Amino acid sequence: MDHFQYKNGELYAENIALSKIAQEVGTPFYVYSQATLERHYQVFADAVKDIDATICFAVKANSNISVIKALSDLGAGADVVSVGEMKRALKAGVPADKIVYSGVGKSRSELKAAVETGIRQINVESEEELAVLNEVAQEMGARMPIVLRVNPDVDAKTHAKISTGKSGNKFGIDWKRAVEVYQRASNMAGVEPKGLACHIGSQLTDLEPFRAAFRRMKEMVSELRGLGLDVSRVDLGGGLGIPYDEGDTPLPVEYGKLVVEELGDLDVEFEFEPGRMIVGNAGILVSEVIYVKEGLSKTFAIIDAAMNDLMRPSLYDAYHAIVPVIEADAEEAKQLYDVVGPICETGDTFAKDRLLNKLKTGDLIAFRTAGAYGATMSNTYNSRSLIPELMVKGEEYAIIRRRLDIEEQMDLEALASWQD
Ligand code: LLP
Repeated sequence: MDHFQYKNGELYAENIALSKIAQEVGTPFYVYSQATLERHYQVFADAVKDIDATICFAVKANSNISVIKALSDLGAGADVVSVGEMKRALKAGVPADKIVYSGVGKSRSELKAAVETGIRQINVESEEELAVLNEVAQEMGARMPIVLRVNPDVDAKTHAKISTGKSGNKFGIDWKRAVEVYQRASNMAGVEPKGLACHIGSQLTDLEPFRAAFRRMKEMVSELRGLGLDVSRVDLGGGLGIPYDEGDTPLPVEYGKLVVEELGDLDVEFEFEPGRMIVGNAGILVSEVIYVKEGLSKTFAIIDAAMNDLMRPSLYDAYHAIVPVIEADAEEAKQLYDVVGPICETGDTFAKDRLLNKLKTGDLIAFRTAGAYGATMSNTYNSRSLIPELMVKGEEYAIIRRRLDIEEQMDLEALASWQD
């Protein structure tokens, strides 16, 4: 359920017509619906209400400070993977004790910043990182709460580029070594092991891989406790898939049930790091058709958004539904289009042979389900502007990131000047 619906033949974000925003702000732009964000957070929170759970929104999915704040106001914490994301979470009002810090390559200075800030925990991903963190924390006279991120060697059955839980993936500590590492960590003065974490991948459309990972976590918790070690937290990561097309995906409530079924009696505080599930359907990307070009074998709809604005189709062959902003006449004939951007790469393609209502120059279209990993992965390739992000709440909208045009980009650069 989202709040992007047609009213009188026009697509609205909550109570504002997208055509009105397009006129005022110009295209392309991202727009988020605050009511949808809040609803999705609530749905996830309800799904895990029967267990002791901290929901740490995965900031990488959408790191706009207004988005983080909307969630933080509902009680969300944050899962961050850089000092940049940590600063965003803090600025948006997330209390430090609700921030968890994941990532395979945290540098010494990043670890130091996390310890200094006094965040809830660092999710340690290697023995090497553990040693450095232990050193850093001791130098600072601190004992940093940590969980060990385990690589459970489970196939998440999702796109290869976003699978993270197989032994060949760079993430986490091999489950076979994790108990020994935990034991060692419990004797270190600079860290305080609190428990385990896992995150096996993103956009999971089947619950079984979660079940396999949860079982492994449970075995390991028992083993650690059997050794007399304390385990009070289990971080189950994110990864729940969402429907990009008509396909079925597990509901958050089913995921919550699975957690209770497999781990409900574990007597730990749970942490969750959902990203996509919270923001994916709360955002769309609106773009205008520049040309409709008749090729020999294809008709191309060339639009003003490009792969730099929404990378998912070119990077993962991801599907995003494309809908007209002004609803087409149901009787009107449809046509197959390749929907492409203006960038000088064939990969700058959003959809191939997509059946859409007839398009013409000036038509507005919207990519659905673009709230997660849309704006956060955008860039300025081809010296394009970084496009605006907007938040809608009822009848109002706010520009929550303005367009970064080429003059401002060039202001960051300098002509090299040499001594000779
Ligand atoms: N926790 C950790 C440690 C993660 O690495 C991730 C995502 C999440 C939580 C959140 O996962 P989610 O609930 O959003 O599935 N750019 C890709 C997705 C990359 C996901 C990376 N890690 C895409 O556009 O599909």
